[in-house]
Amino acid sequence: MENGMDRVGVVGCGLMGSGIAEVSARAGLDVVVVESSTAALDAGRARLEKSLARAEAKGKIDSAAEVLERIGYVTDLGDLADRQVVVEAIVEDEGAKTELFRTLDRVVLDPQAILASNTSSIPIMKLGVVTARPQHVIGVHFFNPVPVLQLVELVPSLLTSSDTTERARAFVEGRLGKRAIDCQDRAGFVVNALLIPFVLSAIRMLESGFATAEDIDRGLVLGAAHPQGPLALADLIGLDTTKAVAESLYEEFKEPLYAAPPLLARMVDAGLLGRKTGRGFYTYE
Ligand code: NAI
Repeated sequence: MENGMDRVGVVGCGLMGSGIAEVSARAGLDVVVVESSTAALDAGRARLEKSLARAEAKGKIDSAAEVLERIGYVTDLGDLADRQVVVEAIVEDEGAKTELFRTLDRVVLDPQAILASNTSSIPIMKLGVVTARPQHVIGVHFFNPVPVLQLVELVPSLLTSSDTTERARAFVEGRLGKRAIDCQDRAGFVVNALLIPFVLSAIRMLESGFATAEDIDRGLVLGAAHPQGPLALADLIGLDTTKAVAESLYEEFKEPLYAAPPLLARMVDAGLLGRKTGRGFYTYE
């Protein structure tokens, strides 16, 4: 079952793609990373190298240099021709992703290759049907930071074969050492479908003046043993991302619990996006 998944391609080397490339190379696999421009490729490589240096300093890996030797960096999708597993982690844009899957279908020569997407909200079916091999297209949804968080959601579309799902499971569990759960091809999968309404409820609670941000978060940390409160979590995810995921859930289910509260929308308009901009529900150095 684990044969034929040694050559991995990762498309997009941002936050998630660099993490996916890192865990693949750390698992001893041969990795080719594709970015859309040389500048983006350099930025992705720098992110990856920094993360590996940190892992080496903490004693989690013996040699960052040895891991880096297994990673090639290119800007031409044609260099994915010999890949057995390709994980797409480009911008969350349906047009960009469908165009990419059309190209992958053309350039990846192994007819059994797994074509995976790390999308958080785009239906896997939409990516499968633009290829001539939707049975090999599957959602493989990692969590940020990829080298740290264990979970991967496996998301077969209605057209994905059970063989592809089992090979994808063998890849993430057997090769990468992650833990997989199975989800249907529905917005939010399992984790975001539960987590986002919870975060939105906390924002509504704050918005209504019911409790302060600090007390809402302290309540969940000390009263429910959460590692961090929902508003601190929203700041970490990014308020723009939180809003975008809420909108995709609302679009799919039309349930009020998924509707982004006005306070969230106003904060995004104001550029108060959380940790990444230095201010969200809290202020950061
Ligand atoms: P990001 O913006 O950090 O990285 C995206 C990268 O893709 C950029 O470096 C960009 O240059 C590159 N790119 C864009 N179009 C490309 C193309 N046509 N070919 C090659 N490279 C291209 O985004 P991030 O956060 O890494 O997200 C990537 C995917 O992962 C999205 O689908 C997102 O929904 C998903 N995701 C994000 C999570 C998060 O916490 N940020 C968690 C789980 C999934």
